[in-house]
Formats: sequence, C-alpha cells, structure tokens
Amino acid sequence: MKSSFRKSFLWILIALLIVFAGSVLFESTSRIKQAKAEANFLIGISQPNLNEPRQIVMNNEIRKEAEKHSNVKLIFTDAAENSEKQIHDVQKLMEYGIDLLIISLNDSEKLTPIVKEAYKTIPVIVLGRGVTGYDYTMFIGSDNLSIGKIAGKLASDLLAGTAAEIVEIKGAMSSTSEEETSRGFRDYVTRSPSIQIKQEIDGSWQRDKAEDELKRILPFYPEVRLVFAHSDAMALGAYRAITSWGLSNVQIIGIDGLDTVNGGFDLVKQKILSGSVTSPTGGRESIQYAIDILNGEKVIPKKIILRSHLIANQHEPLNGPDRQPYMMKLDTAGPDKADPRRKIKLGVVIVGSESSWRAANTESIKTAAEQEQDIELFMQYAEGSQDKEIEMIRSLIRQKVDVIVFTPIVETGWDEVLEEARKAGIPVILTDRKVKVEDDSLWTTFIGSDFIEEGRRAARWLLERYANRGGVTEIVELQGTAGSAPAIERRQGFEEVLANNSSFHVAASEIGDFTYDSGFQLMNKVIKDGVMPQVVFAHNDDMALGAIKAMEQAGMKPGKDIVVMSVDATKLAFQAMIAGKLNLSVECNPLLGPQIVKAVKDLAAAKEIPVNIITSEGIFSAETAKRDIAMRKY
Ligand code: AHR
Repeated sequence: MKSSFRKSFLWILIALLIVFAGSVLFESTSRIKQAKAEANFLIGISQPNLNEPRQIVMNNEIRKEAEKHSNVKLIFTDAAENSEKQIHDVQKLMEYGIDLLIISLNDSEKLTPIVKEAYKTIPVIVLGRGVTGYDYTMFIGSDNLSIGKIAGKLASDLLAGTAAEIVEIKGAMSSTSEEETSRGFRDYVTRSPSIQIKQEIDGSWQRDKAEDELKRILPFYPEVRLVFAHSDAMALGAYRAITSWGLSNVQIIGIDGLDTVNGGFDLVKQKILSGSVTSPTGGRESIQYAIDILNGEKVIPKKIILRSHLIANQHEPLNGPDRQPYMMKLDTAGPDKADPRRKIKLGVVIVGSESSWRAANTESIKTAAEQEQDIELFMQYAEGSQDKEIEMIRSLIRQKVDVIVFTPIVETGWDEVLEEARKAGIPVILTDRKVKVEDDSLWTTFIGSDFIEEGRRAARWLLERYANRGGVTEIVELQGTAGSAPAIERRQGFEEVLANNSSFHVAASEIGDFTYDSGFQLMNKVIKDGVMPQVVFAHNDDMALGAIKAMEQAGMKPGKDIVVMSVDATKLAFQAMIAGKLNLSVECNPLLGPQIVKAVKDLAAAKEIPVNIITSEGIFSAETAKRDIAMRKY
C-alpha cells in the first residue's frame, strides 16, 4: 500500500516537473506572442545551463531588475550544457522576435558565429565569458586577475610569517581566465619566501571531484596550511576532504561569493571557508544596460568589468577594505548633505594640452559636467606634469570635493596621493589612462579605451594588407609619452600581433610625447639616421601628422611610398587620409564626458559602479575616410 502510494506520488511529481520545465524552458508560442504583444521590449536570455548556482543567481538578478520595468518581458532558455542546443535556443529566440539577446556562453568558440549572426539584427549583451572578435553590443564580466590578487592578499594575511604550503584547485587546467586568477594569486603569495604553492589540482568545477582529488593528495603534503579553490563549490569539496582527514589547521579560500545556501557568503559565515571573493554575475547590470540600449541611449560602453569584493571572517561581509569605503559618504556625511539643493563638488585634473584628442576630451568632460545642475565643477590644468597633477589632487582634497576625476600622465607614482584621497574619503575616478598601484582599491573606476586592443587593431590591419607583399617590411614606431599607459599598451598590442611573423621588423622605436612637434622631430631623426621604413606607426594622430610633414620635407610620399598608421581618428587625421597622406587611424574615443558624469552621479547616489568601463571603438582607413568624416565629432 505504502509503496504504491509512493509510486503514484513519484509519477505525479515527474508529471509536474515536466509541465514546469515545459513552461520555463520552452515557453509556449502563444505565451510568447502574448508577451510580445504586451511588452515594448521582449528580451531573450540564453543560459548555458541551469545546474550551476551562478546561472540561477544570474537569472534571479535579471528577473528582479526587469520587474522594475512594466514594459519589459523576458524569455529564458536553458541549453543544458550543450552548445548545439544553445545555438538552436538563440535561433528560436530570434524567431520569437526578441528585441535584445542576453547570452552567457556554454563554449566561446562554438557560440561566436551565432552571436555574430544575432548581432546583425538585434543588440546582444554577452555575459561572463567573451566571444572572439567584437560582433556584439556589449560585454559584461569580472576581472580574474584582480580576483586572484584579492584571494592572494587574504592568503598572505592569513599565513602571515608562517612557513606554509598551499594547494590550488582549478576548475579547468588550461583556460586563460583560470590562468589569470592563478597569476593574480601567485603575484601576492610568492612575495613571502616562506609560502610555497605545492600542488595544483583539477577539480573540474565540481565539489565532489575537488574533494576526491584533494583527499588523494593530502597525505603527501603534511605541511599544507591553505587551499585556494577557484569556486566556492570546490572549496566546499576541499573542506570535506580536509575534515575527512581530521585536519583542523588548513584554511580554505573560494571564489564566487554567492548569497545562496552553500554559497560563499554562507560558507564564510559558517566558518567553513576563511574567505571568498565575489565574482559578480552581471545579471542586474545586463538588464540596466539592455534598457538603456533599447531606449536608444547614446553612450553604451563596449565592455564593463564589475568589481570583486572580499568576503572574509575578519570583516563584516561586504564591508572589508575592498568595499569602496567612501561610497556611503556622499549622501550621509557633511553638514550640508541634508540640503537637497547641495551640489556634488566634482574635482577634475586635466593632464595637459598635448594633442587635438586631448582638446576634444577636455571639452567633452567640461560640457557634460557643466550641463548638470547638481554638479559644481572644479577644473584644474596640469600642463603635462605629474608633479603638478599631484599638487592639484592635493588641492582638491583640501577643498573637500566629493569626487576626483583625473588622467594619470604616467602609470606609476600615484600610491601616496591616492592614499591621501582615500583617507579624506574622496573616491577617485581614473579616466583615459590607468595607474599601476600596489592597491587597486585606491581608485573606484576606470573609464576609457582598451589601448592594447588599439595596438592590436593597427597590427592586424597591417597584417591583412601587407603580409603577402614579399620580403621584410621595415617599421618605424613613434611612441607616445614614456611610461604612459597608451604608449606602453599600444606598443604591447602591436608587438603581440606581429610577434613570430618574420616578414615584419621594427627597425626603430623612438620615444615622443604625443605632440605634433615630437612626431616631426623623431621622424627627422629617423630619416637622418638613414632608416628607410615601409611603414610608420605613430601612437597618435598628432605625431603622425608631424612625421608626415618631416617625410614630405625630405621628399618622400607618406601614404603612398610609406604606409602611415596612427591612433585617435580625429578630424585632422581624416583630412590627412582624404589627402592620401595617412593610411589608417585606429579610433580612440575622447568623448568620455557623459560616461564620467554618469559614474559621478551613480557614486553620489551610493551605487556601486563597474571597475572598468571601456568605450566602443573601431578603425578607419583612407579608403572610406571621405564617407566617414561626415560622422566625426572630434
Ligand atoms: O591617452 C590618450 C592619448 O593621449 C591619445 O591617444 C593622445 O592623442 C593623447 O594625447
């Protein structure tokens, strides 16, 4: 009797599950038609699976955010870890007439073509793992290197001074993102000679596999004092292995920090883990940007990277040193904060006036800030000097501004002044150029371009056109300011693409300062030195224009005998391309003002903002310059 009751109960349960799965995974066509009719915006969400807590949390965030908008309807699909199924899901979503696709990929390589296909007709937001190329509207992800660094710092703090061995548990042994996490972690822990990473094991993202593998090797490493697992699920597996061997002196750090049962929060609270680093899913942000895109908002970044936080036992969850401590300050502290008419005091340090790009950038920031009634702008001009920039930041701190925005002329030398800003409770936004500081939580967000990609774009263009011309192509590189992020990274991206290609050779690489004059002088020197390049790659348009002048004075025909490439894509560069003197300009967008103002206002509203906001850019060549110049704004 009991068993027949159990059997029929089981059948009812299975039947209910089928009905439920049918409604969630394959929404009926009539429901979709109805949703489409009811909504202004129908958004399709393609998930690679719904086994992982991360994907479930992502969907919940998406749902919660979308509920704020009555004109938005969602359709979800689940590919059950099958890339072919995910391709089919996207095709189906397209047939249903979705207005925008949000996709988290099962496999980047296999899904790239369908993302590209979808992007031809609708906006596409890619979450988590990127696709190859740039055929999507925007990418939202997290910074694996910084996740590794946060975990590494915690590991060093926990093991402070003791001789200890570490085991690292990875999700996949040969993935780039795993490699980045590992690099960040090692960067910290290897600073202490008494700490050694003894072994790396493959946990395949599974709790049980991590447990079995660790159980197997633990007896061989009696000195292990810490396990770093690349996910909280694997960290839980590690805990089980450790307790099964009766060990109590091994600490565990995980990644993900999800707020679910057995998620990172829970495990840290229960003291099963010593810490976890959050890896935001981006679900909430994907809907916020989707709405902006569908509403025709003009400034949509190409890529945003969300900030990771440490959740650790010694801190209140999400209140550790990596939480921007000043975020609450703007709307709580200060005597006049209660006054609704109080303006946000925005301090901006402009690095210099070296190029026409800079002029457009300065104008964009100034105009965007001045248009806002609730912003009071304090603008300072540092005339290309790092010392002056530091002096001006200090003066803004003394003036008690609410937010500081600045462009670091070079990457290093900012730790002290940024620490001073932090002590004063003033958040700092970096724009255009990045810094290299010991503690990345000294700045709130970076808004600007991907300089490495700009260098790569120039090199790829060159490869496509000149790889088969025969012989060796000699290149002269005219670099921007020494030690500046654009000079370092454009060079890096350019070299990366041309590396191992023996038909290209950099014959000379001269250091300038992004000015027209330095381009002119350096090219004169190159000519005087007797270097005869087939290609000149200048790190910005102004230097290219100066170099063009020098070449012409020497009787050469830039753009014809010599291929000239540069970065920025200013109107002046377009004129030079139309005149046949410049062959290519890679876009570097200076119109950052609106995004800066948005970030400042979000900070003032105590909203967490992405750690990186990267602008959308392309390349322009002489062939289409006449057509494209009409659309140029700077
Ligand atoms: O940091 C951006 C670079 O600085 C631009 O490419 C250059 O023109 C500017 O002066």
